[in-house]
Amino acid sequence: MATRLFHISDVHFGVENRAALAEVARAVAAEQPCAVVCTGDLTQRAKHSEYAAAREWFASLPAPVVLQPGNHDMPYYNPWERFSDPFRRYRRLNDAVGTELESADVVLVALLTTVPAQWRFPWSDGVVKPLALAETVAALEALQDDPRHKLVIAHHPLLGPDDAGANPTIGGDAAFAALAAAGADAALSGHIHVPLDEVRVRGGKPMRMIGAGTLSTRLRHGAPPSYRVITCALGEPITTELRVIPEEKGDPSRSRPFPYRKRQNR
Ligand SMILES: [Fe+2]
Repeated sequence: MATRLFHISDVHFGVENRAALAEVARAVAAEQPCAVVCTGDLTQRAKHSEYAAAREWFASLPAPVVLQPGNHDMPYYNPWERFSDPFRRYRRLNDAVGTELESADVVLVALLTTVPAQWRFPWSDGVVKPLALAETVAALEALQDDPRHKLVIAHHPLLGPDDAGANPTIGGDAAFAALAAAGADAALSGHIHVPLDEVRVRGGKPMRMIGAGTLSTRLRHGAPPSYRVITCALGEPITTELRVIPEEKGDPSRSRPFPYRKRQNR
Protein backbone atom coordinates (compact mmCIF):
# COMPACT_ATOMS: atom_id res chain seq x y z
CA MET A 1 0.00 0.00 0.00
CA ALA A 2 1.60 3.24 -1.13
CA THR A 3 1.63 6.55 0.73
CA ARG A 4 -0.03 9.43 -1.07
CA LEU A 5 0.71 12.98 -0.03
CA PHE A 6 -0.93 16.18 -1.21
CA HIS A 7 1.82 18.80 -1.48
CA ILE A 8 0.46 22.33 -1.34
CA SER A 9 2.27 25.62 -0.78
CA ASP A 10 2.00 29.37 -0.58
CA VAL A 11 -1.63 29.55 0.41
CA HIS A 12 -1.15 33.12 1.66
CA PHE A 13 -4.32 33.48 3.73
CA GLY A 14 -5.26 37.14 3.32
CA VAL A 15 -4.88 36.86 -0.45
CA GLU A 16 -5.82 33.19 -0.69
CA ASN A 17 -7.53 31.79 -3.75
CA ARG A 18 -10.74 30.58 -2.16
CA ALA A 19 -11.95 28.66 -5.17
CA ALA A 20 -8.64 26.82 -5.40
CA LEU A 21 -8.75 26.01 -1.69
CA ALA A 22 -12.27 24.69 -2.05
CA GLU A 23 -11.09 22.44 -4.87
CA VAL A 24 -8.19 21.10 -2.77
CA ALA A 25 -10.50 20.51 0.22
CA ARG A 26 -12.92 18.63 -2.03
CA ALA A 27 -10.07 16.45 -3.38
CA VAL A 28 -8.75 15.75 0.15
CA ALA A 29 -12.21 14.62 1.26
CA ALA A 30 -12.69 12.48 -1.83
CA GLU A 31 -9.24 10.89 -1.94
CA GLN A 32 -8.16 10.78 1.71
CA PRO A 33 -4.40 11.30 1.23
CA CYS A 34 -2.07 10.14 4.03
CA ALA A 35 -1.22 13.79 4.70
CA VAL A 36 -1.45 17.31 3.32
CA VAL A 37 2.03 18.85 3.37
CA CYS A 38 2.26 22.65 3.10
CA THR A 39 5.70 24.14 2.49
CA GLY A 40 5.14 27.59 3.88
CA ASP A 41 3.72 31.03 3.26
CA LEU A 42 0.55 30.06 5.03
CA THR A 43 -0.34 33.73 5.44
CA GLN A 44 0.24 36.97 3.57
CA ARG A 45 1.32 39.27 6.41
CA ALA A 46 1.25 36.92 9.42
CA LYS A 47 -1.76 38.80 10.84
CA HIS A 48 -3.74 37.13 13.60
CA SER A 49 -6.82 37.18 11.37
CA GLU A 50 -4.88 35.44 8.59
CA TYR A 51 -3.61 32.78 10.98
CA ALA A 52 -7.17 32.30 12.22
CA ALA A 53 -8.35 31.73 8.64
CA ALA A 54 -5.49 29.29 8.06
CA ARG A 55 -6.35 27.44 11.24
CA GLU A 56 -9.98 27.12 10.25
CA TRP A 57 -9.17 25.79 6.78
CA PHE A 58 -6.45 23.33 7.79
CA ALA A 59 -8.56 22.06 10.70
CA SER A 60 -11.40 21.40 8.28
CA LEU A 61 -9.33 19.00 6.16
CA PRO A 62 -10.07 15.33 6.86
CA ALA A 63 -6.36 14.38 6.69
CA PRO A 64 -3.24 14.89 8.83
CA VAL A 65 -1.54 18.22 8.12
CA VAL A 66 2.24 18.76 8.07
CA LEU A 67 3.38 22.39 8.03
CA GLN A 68 6.57 24.31 7.40
CA PRO A 69 6.90 28.12 7.84
CA GLY A 70 7.66 30.53 5.01
CA ASN A 71 9.02 34.05 4.90
CA HIS A 72 5.48 35.52 4.98
CA ASP A 73 4.69 33.74 8.23
CA MET A 74 6.74 36.02 10.50
CA PRO A 75 5.12 39.20 11.88
CA TYR A 76 5.25 41.97 9.29
CA TYR A 77 3.75 44.83 11.29
CA ASN A 78 5.32 44.01 14.67
CA PRO A 79 9.12 44.31 14.42
CA TRP A 80 9.62 43.50 18.10
CA GLU A 81 7.90 40.17 17.75
CA ARG A 82 9.51 39.54 14.36
CA PHE A 83 12.98 39.70 15.88
CA SER A 84 12.30 38.35 19.36
CA ASP A 85 10.12 35.36 18.48
CA PRO A 86 9.48 35.24 14.72
CA PHE A 87 7.71 31.86 14.71
CA ARG A 88 5.43 32.30 17.72
CA ARG A 89 2.28 32.73 15.65
CA TYR A 90 3.33 29.91 13.34
CA ARG A 91 3.94 27.59 16.30
CA ARG A 92 0.46 28.28 17.62
CA LEU A 93 -1.03 27.25 14.29
CA ASN A 94 1.20 24.20 14.07
CA ASP A 95 0.30 23.17 17.62
CA ALA A 96 -3.38 23.46 16.73
CA VAL A 97 -3.50 21.73 13.34
CA GLY A 98 -0.05 20.31 12.51
CA THR A 99 1.29 16.85 13.09
CA GLU A 100 4.10 14.56 11.95
CA LEU A 101 3.65 12.08 9.15
CA GLU A 102 3.52 8.43 10.09
CA SER A 103 4.16 6.25 7.08
CA ALA A 104 5.78 2.93 6.23
CA ASP A 105 6.95 4.36 2.90
CA VAL A 106 8.32 7.84 3.48
CA VAL A 107 9.88 10.09 6.12
CA LEU A 108 9.62 13.88 6.06
CA VAL A 109 12.59 15.86 7.39
CA ALA A 110 12.22 19.61 7.84
CA LEU A 111 14.79 22.22 6.83
CA LEU A 112 14.30 25.83 7.92
CA THR A 113 15.24 28.25 5.13
CA THR A 114 13.40 31.32 6.43
CA VAL A 115 15.08 34.09 8.44
CA PRO A 116 13.57 37.25 10.00
CA ALA A 117 16.34 39.46 8.56
CA GLN A 118 19.55 39.16 6.58
CA TRP A 119 22.36 41.31 5.17
CA ARG A 120 20.74 41.78 1.79
CA PHE A 121 17.43 42.53 0.19
CA PRO A 122 14.98 41.06 -0.22
CA TRP A 123 14.73 39.50 3.22
CA SER A 124 12.20 37.14 1.72
CA ASP A 125 14.87 35.08 -0.06
CA GLY A 126 16.09 31.87 1.47
CA VAL A 127 19.04 31.34 3.78
CA VAL A 128 20.23 27.94 4.94
CA LYS A 129 22.01 28.52 8.22
CA PRO A 130 24.71 26.02 9.24
CA LEU A 131 22.86 24.97 12.39
CA ALA A 132 19.60 24.35 10.52
CA LEU A 133 21.42 22.31 7.90
CA ALA A 134 23.32 20.33 10.53
CA GLU A 135 20.05 19.36 12.25
CA THR A 136 18.49 18.19 9.00
CA VAL A 137 21.60 16.28 7.93
CA ALA A 138 21.78 14.62 11.36
CA ALA A 139 18.13 13.57 11.07
CA LEU A 140 18.83 12.04 7.64
CA GLU A 141 21.96 10.28 8.85
CA ALA A 142 20.00 8.75 11.72
CA LEU A 143 17.72 7.24 9.07
CA GLN A 144 20.50 5.76 6.98
CA ASP A 145 19.42 2.15 7.51
CA ASP A 146 15.76 3.06 7.10
CA PRO A 147 14.46 1.81 3.73
CA ARG A 148 11.79 4.49 3.46
CA HIS A 149 11.99 7.39 1.02
CA LYS A 150 13.33 10.59 2.59
CA LEU A 151 11.78 13.90 1.63
CA VAL A 152 13.14 17.20 2.89
CA ILE A 153 10.46 19.86 3.33
CA ALA A 154 11.57 23.49 3.08
CA HIS A 155 9.98 26.75 1.99
CA HIS A 156 12.62 27.92 -0.48
CA PRO A 157 13.95 25.92 -3.43
CA LEU A 158 17.57 25.07 -2.63
CA LEU A 159 18.77 25.97 -6.13
CA GLY A 160 17.89 28.66 -8.66
CA PRO A 161 16.01 27.91 -11.86
CA ASP A 162 19.12 26.81 -13.74
CA ASP A 163 22.69 25.93 -12.87
CA ALA A 164 24.14 28.81 -14.91
CA GLY A 165 22.33 31.55 -12.99
CA ALA A 166 22.84 32.84 -9.46
CA ASN A 167 21.25 30.92 -6.61
CA PRO A 168 18.88 33.20 -4.65
CA THR A 169 19.06 30.85 -1.65
CA ILE A 170 22.18 31.59 0.37
CA GLY A 171 23.88 28.33 1.27
CA GLY A 172 21.53 26.45 -1.04
CA ASP A 173 24.20 24.75 -3.16
CA ALA A 174 26.06 23.40 -0.15
CA ALA A 175 22.79 22.36 1.48
CA PHE A 176 21.69 20.52 -1.64
CA ALA A 177 24.99 18.62 -1.78
CA ALA A 178 24.88 17.77 1.94
CA LEU A 179 21.26 16.61 1.89
CA ALA A 180 21.76 14.53 -1.25
CA ALA A 181 24.88 12.94 0.28
CA ALA A 182 22.94 12.21 3.48
CA GLY A 183 20.36 10.22 1.53
CA ALA A 184 17.52 12.63 0.77
CA ASP A 185 15.55 11.54 -2.28
CA ALA A 186 13.87 14.89 -2.87
CA ALA A 187 13.44 18.38 -1.47
CA LEU A 188 9.88 19.74 -1.47
CA SER A 189 9.50 23.51 -1.61
CA GLY A 190 7.30 26.45 -2.50
CA HIS A 191 8.11 30.19 -2.52
CA ILE A 192 8.38 30.77 -6.27
CA HIS A 193 4.66 30.13 -6.95
CA VAL A 194 5.61 28.02 -9.96
CA PRO A 195 5.50 24.22 -9.89
CA LEU A 196 8.63 22.21 -10.60
CA ASP A 197 9.83 18.61 -10.60
CA GLU A 198 13.39 18.08 -11.75
CA VAL A 199 16.54 16.19 -10.85
CA ARG A 200 19.57 18.36 -10.12
CA VAL A 201 23.11 17.44 -9.11
CA ARG A 202 25.54 18.96 -6.63
CA GLY A 203 28.75 17.38 -5.38
CA GLY A 204 28.18 14.48 -7.77
CA LYS A 205 24.96 13.55 -5.98
CA PRO A 206 21.53 13.76 -7.63
CA MET A 207 18.41 14.86 -5.79
CA ARG A 208 14.95 15.71 -6.97
CA MET A 209 13.48 19.17 -6.45
CA ILE A 210 9.69 19.20 -6.22
CA GLY A 211 7.62 22.38 -6.04
CA ALA A 212 3.88 22.67 -5.61
CA GLY A 213 3.08 26.14 -7.00
CA THR A 214 0.64 28.39 -5.13
CA LEU A 215 -2.97 28.32 -3.93
CA SER A 216 -3.05 32.10 -3.56
CA THR A 217 -4.03 34.89 -5.91
CA ARG A 218 -0.35 35.89 -6.20
CA LEU A 219 0.28 34.19 -9.52
CA ARG A 220 3.77 34.33 -11.04
CA HIS A 221 5.05 33.85 -14.59
CA GLY A 222 1.62 32.87 -15.85
CA ALA A 223 1.49 29.74 -13.67
CA PRO A 224 -2.08 29.02 -12.51
CA PRO A 225 -2.86 27.81 -8.97
CA SER A 226 -1.69 24.24 -8.48
CA TYR A 227 -0.81 21.49 -6.05
CA ARG A 228 0.88 18.15 -6.41
CA VAL A 229 0.11 14.56 -5.47
CA ILE A 230 3.24 12.64 -4.44
CA THR A 231 3.10 8.85 -4.21
CA CYS A 232 5.78 6.89 -2.36
CA ALA A 233 6.07 3.12 -2.09
CA LEU A 234 8.97 1.14 -0.68
CA GLY A 235 11.44 0.09 -3.35
CA GLU A 236 9.69 2.03 -6.11
CA PRO A 237 10.45 5.41 -7.64
CA ILE A 238 8.57 8.38 -6.23
CA THR A 239 5.86 9.51 -8.63
CA THR A 240 4.18 12.90 -8.74
CA GLU A 241 1.12 14.32 -10.42
CA LEU A 242 0.73 18.07 -10.83
CA ARG A 243 -2.84 19.25 -10.48
CA VAL A 244 -3.59 22.62 -11.98
CA ILE A 245 -6.74 24.35 -10.78
CA PRO A 246 -8.90 25.11 -13.82
CA GLU A 247 -9.31 28.80 -14.57
CA GLU A 248 -13.02 28.86 -13.84
CA LYS A 249 -12.24 27.44 -10.39
CA GLY A 250 -9.07 29.44 -9.81
CA ASP A 251 -10.74 32.80 -10.46
CA PRO A 252 -7.77 34.64 -12.01
CA SER A 253 -9.67 37.94 -11.69
CA ARG A 254 -8.48 37.94 -8.07
CA SER A 255 -4.82 37.77 -9.12
CA ARG A 256 -3.52 40.85 -7.42
CA PRO A 257 -0.26 41.07 -5.53
CA PHE A 258 -1.79 42.72 -2.48
CA PRO A 259 -5.29 43.34 -1.17
CA TYR A 260 -6.87 45.86 -3.48
CA ARG A 261 -7.59 49.30 -2.11
CA LYS A 262 -9.45 51.74 -4.26
CA ARG A 263 -7.55 55.00 -4.63
CA GLN A 264 -9.53 57.87 -3.14
CA ASN A 265 -9.86 61.01 -5.22
CA ARG A 266 -9.30 63.99 -2.98
FE1 LIG B 1 4.76 32.79 -1.30
